Amino acid sequence: MDDLDVTGMMNDLRRRLKPYDDPRRKISDMPENGMKKEDILGQLRKYAETENEPWKHGMVSGAVYHGGDELLDFLEKVYHIYSQSNPLHPDIWPSLTKMENEIVAMSSGIMNGGESVRGSVTSGGTESILLAMKTYRDYYRSVKGISEPEIILPTSAHAAFLKACDYFCMKPVFVELDHEFRVDVEKVREAVNHNTVAIVGSAPSFPYGIIDPIEELSRIAAEHNIGMHVDACLGGFVIPWAEKLGYHTGKFDFSLPGVTSISMDTHKYGFGPKGTSVLLYRNSDLFQQQIYANGTWQGGIYFTPTMAGSRPGYPIVAAWAVMMIMGRKGYMESSRKILETGKFIKEGIRKIPGISILGDPLWVIAMSSEKGGAYRIMDIMGKKGWMLSGLANPPAFHIALTMRQTYPGVREKFLEDLRSSVEEASMGSRSEAGMAPVYGMASALPEEQVSFFLKNIVEWLYSQ
Ligand SMILES: Cc1ncc(COP(=O)(O)O)c(C=O)c1O
Repeated sequence: MDDLDVTGMMNDLRRRLKPYDDPRRKISDMPENGMKKEDILGQLRKYAETENEPWKHGMVSGAVYHGGDELLDFLEKVYHIYSQSNPLHPDIWPSLTKMENEIVAMSSGIMNGGESVRGSVTSGGTESILLAMKTYRDYYRSVKGISEPEIILPTSAHAAFLKACDYFCMKPVFVELDHEFRVDVEKVREAVNHNTVAIVGSAPSFPYGIIDPIEELSRIAAEHNIGMHVDACLGGFVIPWAEKLGYHTGKFDFSLPGVTSISMDTHKYGFGPKGTSVLLYRNSDLFQQQIYANGTWQGGIYFTPTMAGSRPGYPIVAAWAVMMIMGRKGYMESSRKILETGKFIKEGIRKIPGISILGDPLWVIAMSSEKGGAYRIMDIMGKKGWMLSGLANPPAFHIALTMRQTYPGVREKFLEDLRSSVEEASMGSRSEAGMAPVYGMASALPEEQVSFFLKNIVEWLYSQ
C-alpha cells in the first residue's frame, strides 16, 4: 500500500462522507443567540433533499425498507402523539408496555411461538443479538456452570455476534460455509464442546442472503441442550410468507423444538422507523436472564429489560402501528413484490457474463466477479449512483432489495447499469469512488492491521 493510494482513498472518502466539510460553515461552538426555527428547518431540508434522493429512486441497498409517502405521513402523526414517552416509566406510560407486549405477541405468532414465549423490543438488530448472547452466557453459567462460554458462529453471521463476544468475554467459534454459502452442519456438530452455550444460524445471512440449515442446527442444539439463536433480523418479516408464495425456505422458527431465541427487525422489513427490533425467547427462564433489576440502588427500584435506561417510546409505538396497518396480508404482499423483484434480478444477473451470484439467495443478492474485479464493479455502479454494500472474504458486494426496488423501472435500470459496469470494469476502469476503495484497501492489509486501519477511519469520521 503506497502513500498515493491512501491519499487518493482519503480524498474519495472525504467527498463521500464529509461533503459539508467547508471550514466557513463549521459549527464548533454553540451560538450565543439561538437560531431562527425557519433557518434550522431550511438547513435540514437542504441536507435531506440531497441525501434522500438515492433511496427514493431505489438506488440504495437496504437502509430504507419502505419509505412510501403515505406511511411516512402516518408515522409523523404517531410521532406527534408519542414524542415524549419513555418506557422506563411504565407507571407514566402503561400503554407503552401494553404495545410492546403486543409486538412481542404478534411477532411470536408469525414465528409459530407458543404461550410460553417471552421477549422485548430492543433498539435494533445489534442490541437484540447482544442481549441474546448475554442471556446465553448468564443462563448456562447458572444452569451448567460454564465459565468460559463459546458461541458457534457461521462465518457469515452478522458482526454483532462478534461485538457480543467482545463485550461479554465470550469465545466465537467460527464454522465455514459450504459451497452454497450455508453453514456446514457437520462442522458445527464437531465444534460443539462442553463450553458451548449457543449455536447461531441466520435467516438469512447479511452478506449472502442465504438461510442456514436451521432445522439441522436446531437438532444439534436440542441434542446437546444448548441455545440456538436464529438471526432473522433481515428475514423475520419476509420469510414467514415466502413458502406460501412458492419459494423454498425450510423451517426456521419456534416450530423447531431446538430453536430457543429469534431476533427479527421491525425497523427493516417490518417497515417501522429506525430504532426497533424484536427479541423472542422460547421461555421465561431465558428471558429472565436478559432483565436487569436492582432493588438496592439509592435512586430507588431500578429495572430494565434491555440495555438502555431511558428509551424512546415513539419507535415502539410506531412499530406497533405499522404492524397493525400492514397485517399479515400487507406483509405477504410486500414480500411477494420484493421476492418477485429478487427473482427478476437474479435471472438478469445470470445473463451477464463476468459476474456471478454467490449461492442461490432470495432477495439479498451477493455478486462476485471471476476476475476478482468485484470492488471495481461496485465502484463503477457507485459512479452511476448505486449505493451497494461491499463484502469481504471473498471480495463481493450485495444488494438487499427493499420496497424501493419494486417500483417500475428500477430493476431494469439496475440490470442495465450492472451490465455496463461489468463491461467497463473488464476494460480496466480505475477504482475511485465511494466505499469500494476502503474495501479494497482493507482486503489488501494483513488481518491484524485491518481493525487499526478502520478505527483510524472512524476517528477521522468523528472528528471535525
Ligand atoms: C442478518 C442481520 N443481523 C443483524 C443485523 C444488525 O442489525 P442492526 O443494523 O439493526 O443493528 C443485520 C443488519 O443488517 C442483519 O442483516
